[in-house]
Amino acid sequence: MDGHLAAAMDVATEALLRFRPEVGSLLDELVDAEGGFAPAIVARAWLDVLTSEPQPTAAARRAVEPIAPESLRPRERAHRAAILAWSEGRLREAQAILDAWLLEDPTDLWALFAGHQLDFFLGDQASLRDRLARSLPWFPTDHPARGFLQGMFAFGLEEAGTYDRAEAVGSEALEAHPDDVWALHAVVHAHEMRARIDAGLALMARFGPFWREGNAFRVHNTWHEALFLLELGRKEEVLALFDRVIHPPGAPLVALELLDASALLWRLYLDGCPEPERFARLAEAWSRWQTKPFYCFNEVHAVMAFVGADRLDEARWLVGQLTELAAGSDPDSTTARMAREVGVPVARALVAVGEGAWEEALGLLWPIRGRLARFGGSHAQRDAFLRTALVAALEARALPAARALVAERIALREESPWAWLARARLAEATDDEAAASHAHQRARELRDRVRERLGS
Ligand SMILES: [Fe+2]
Repeated sequence: MDGHLAAAMDVATEALLRFRPEVGSLLDELVDAEGGFAPAIVARAWLDVLTSEPQPTAAARRAVEPIAPESLRPRERAHRAAILAWSEGRLREAQAILDAWLLEDPTDLWALFAGHQLDFFLGDQASLRDRLARSLPWFPTDHPARGFLQGMFAFGLEEAGTYDRAEAVGSEALEAHPDDVWALHAVVHAHEMRARIDAGLALMARFGPFWREGNAFRVHNTWHEALFLLELGRKEEVLALFDRVIHPPGAPLVALELLDASALLWRLYLDGCPEPERFARLAEAWSRWQTKPFYCFNEVHAVMAFVGADRLDEARWLVGQLTELAAGSDPDSTTARMAREVGVPVARALVAVGEGAWEEALGLLWPIRGRLARFGGSHAQRDAFLRTALVAALEARALPAARALVAERIALREESPWAWLARARLAEATDDEAAASHAHQRARELRDRVRERLGS
């Protein structure tokens, strides 16, 4: 690789690590100006694959498939093979290819970044952590990318359940690069999982100038901010964030952003705040998004929007589409297995909620609640389905299940007002006035304490 190409790729890689939106145009220029420059072609293809959407993924396939593998260096050959496997729905195979390549070159930043995102799409908590653990020793402390890798490692530590360590490593990464939006996200997750709402909001306020604008991750991080506010019952602020950032009128049809919008409105819906107009706008966006299910974690969020907008026929149609995906004939298809094991029952449960069939919703979610990670995403994202199970148990008056789900939640998030309000609802369902009053009191105290600490 000659000097100017290497330097241009370095600029694009740095933009990637910072989630800068210009990474796409930087690579486009490189692909156009240097026809046949394989590192730029595979990098551009990765950007498309990492959308998790079928059409860009098909475009990535079209970009790399015609290149003869024997004309490529081992690095680009491995990347090409991983992209092709992913485009066929074989995410585990893509993961194995990247794992093997990273043993050859643990410093390949594009393989690390794509692999980390792939681990996320797979819900593979151990690999989210260990991929970075394997590579970090190869990056000396003064390496310009090391901080970003620590940010990724912090997210893996969080998903693997080691929250203190995640917070420490992620904070170190943020000190290195305050605009490391992924490191910020990792620490935010560590707070979210322990319902440390004041710490989460304080962190987001402190780093606000570095993440609120100018990066491709601002919608998701704003979604996290909205989750904290939701715990505090600050619904008007949540809706303002929804309308201004998460899903403003004319928002682009980006699955990973529509998904956040669905997950936020769904939480409100479960809390008895249905927001039909916002759901209608969102369902319209999902209906224009695509036609063929590919990565069912996305599609179940479309089902949420259709249910919330009372477009149940479309929700049921999408369940049918997911069932077809689940029945796929390729035994190595990860996307089919995800749909089979988790996506279809979750989607059916969401439709059952829309039909008021709470017992059915609970019956679908209860047996799979321990393996939701198999269809990807983060703990915080999948919490929407655990909340659905809990609300379904309460609505169906399935009290032993409700009691169990409330107990699990409070054991993990003792400081979550939402968890205590669920306990209050449970106590009210059994006419236990003293327990209900205590739970309401605890929720109030927790909210008051956050207000005092934040001074707002
Ligand atoms: Fe997140």
